Amino acid sequence: MTENGRLKIGVLASGSGSNLQAIIDASRMGMIPVEVVLVLSDKPDAYALQRAEQAGIATAVVRPAEYASREEYDAEIVRLLQQAGVGAVALAGYMRLVTTVLLDAFPQRVLNIHPALLPSFPGLHGQRQAFEYGVKVSGCTVHFVDAGLDSGPIILQAPVPVLEDDDADTLAARILEQEHIIYPLALKLLAEGKLTIEGRRVRIAE
Ligand code: GRF
Repeated sequence: MTENGRLKIGVLASGSGSNLQAIIDASRMGMIPVEVVLVLSDKPDAYALQRAEQAGIATAVVRPAEYASREEYDAEIVRLLQQAGVGAVALAGYMRLVTTVLLDAFPQRVLNIHPALLPSFPGLHGQRQAFEYGVKVSGCTVHFVDAGLDSGPIILQAPVPVLEDDDADTLAARILEQEHIIYPLALKLLAEGKLTIEGRRVRIAE
């Protein structure tokens, strides 16, 4: 926690970082009791790093090629997160599977956003998978991370209808708008201590 009672989080991102930006913006506007204190990336050219720097947030690049295993890689990630004093971790377009090294360091404190209504269409390109399958409604999911692929307990979901003139890209763009709403909201609920995991269900306190 920060001195003013905000939850310190670390964000792991590999790409554009628009979800990171939504979290930073909600934090700076005082809408969520969360402060992003560190942004980590496996990709030195991730635009997410520039967004963090523009916001005055510390960044680090941890290059997978420099580690012998995924566990050793995650041990370095954990070291940096703990050094920054984070109490929770948000994966935001992070293109690596995390190991139990990270999950055990932050039990029930690692969140992810996925651009489909899980458990449908896990893995890469959830928006495109859903579009090509022909669903009439897709959306996005914020969930706790477990050792599986996009398989942890679901915190929040937002539905997005598939329109007649959609293609995979226009659908993805509307899903992303909803991601930017529900990810900050899920982090707010986490920071306020309102989330309880009961088996697969996440209970949200009033
Ligand atoms: C989002 O669609 C997110 O759901 C997925 O990767 C994308 C990341 O976008 N996991 P951004 O980097 O936050 O702009």
